Amino acid sequence: MSKEMKRILVTGACGQIGSELTPALRARYGNENVVASDIAEPPPVLREAGPFEFVDVTQRERIEEVVDRYKIDTIFHMAAILSATGEKDPQLAWRVNIGGLYNVLEVARERGLVRVFCPSSIAVFGPETPKENTPQETVLRPTTMYGITKVTGELLGNYYFHRFGLDVRGLRYPGIISAETMPGGGTTDYAVEIFYEALRHGRYTCFVREDTVLPMMYMPDCIRATIMLMEADLSRLTYHADYNLSGLSFSAGELVAEIKKHIPDFVCEFKPDFRQQIADSWPRTIDDTPAREDWGWAPKYDLAAMVEDMLAKLREKGV
Ligand code: SER
Repeated sequence: MSKEMKRILVTGACGQIGSELTPALRARYGNENVVASDIAEPPPVLREAGPFEFVDVTQRERIEEVVDRYKIDTIFHMAAILSATGEKDPQLAWRVNIGGLYNVLEVARERGLVRVFCPSSIAVFGPETPKENTPQETVLRPTTMYGITKVTGELLGNYYFHRFGLDVRGLRYPGIISAETMPGGGTTDYAVEIFYEALRHGRYTCFVREDTVLPMMYMPDCIRATIMLMEADLSRLTYHADYNLSGLSFSAGELVAEIKKHIPDFVCEFKPDFRQQIADSWPRTIDDTPAREDWGWAPKYDLAAMVEDMLAKLREKGV
């Protein structure tokens, strides 16, 4: 049996995933038991519903203070620099993604925490990795600093499990699409921006080619997968910090066609920039057999359901 998670710290709680994972965890574990943290000023809903602390993950003492003050037993470590920002400032990506993770793992090891979640990404794969149905076990030779930090993070997480018995778990997230908080500085950001621009201006200039296919996932599936993995019995896990995870895959052109079903006048232009090269180094589809077999993963959203829900949510927000 896995030990129970009772008092949770979320780093990067104001980010794209953190801002939706935190309320989901609060609904499940109790508002007071989930401490949100970030370097950014939180939106009122995060601060009002439960505890919030400013935490810069590169400052180890700050993580220690918060973990001790709230008697934290589990960390969802969501603070990170994404791929495009990482290519603009590789030193920052290393400092935050590796320095931050190392701090979190060390604090967790020293205090004997129950569990740590550290997200990985499809960015661990590189140009030599098979692009279709990319298997769990394959070549990991990324060409971005972001990808390098994620491979290192997986190896480090698995090392802490085998060497110190720290229960570190992680998923190789695809590009995440969501209506609540914009992603910042990722290569898959076009798949979110396009919805805002379609609704606001009826036009979008996409920074990857029309035929670019990448693995993606809608946020409700992402949150469900994260919580499922973290609640799975340890004895069932054949992997730890590095589970492949699949939602859906589509080309930028297919996404435009699906949005046009709802907004017929929508016009999208394609002007690839430096992010095309990053996208071209990543897989098109992912084989996540171990996630399905070990802890019962199955995504719920296909392209049509995701686009319909995104547009409805954004319209509700007044976009
Ligand atoms: N969405 C991320 C990025 O584009 C991939 O992990 O950087």
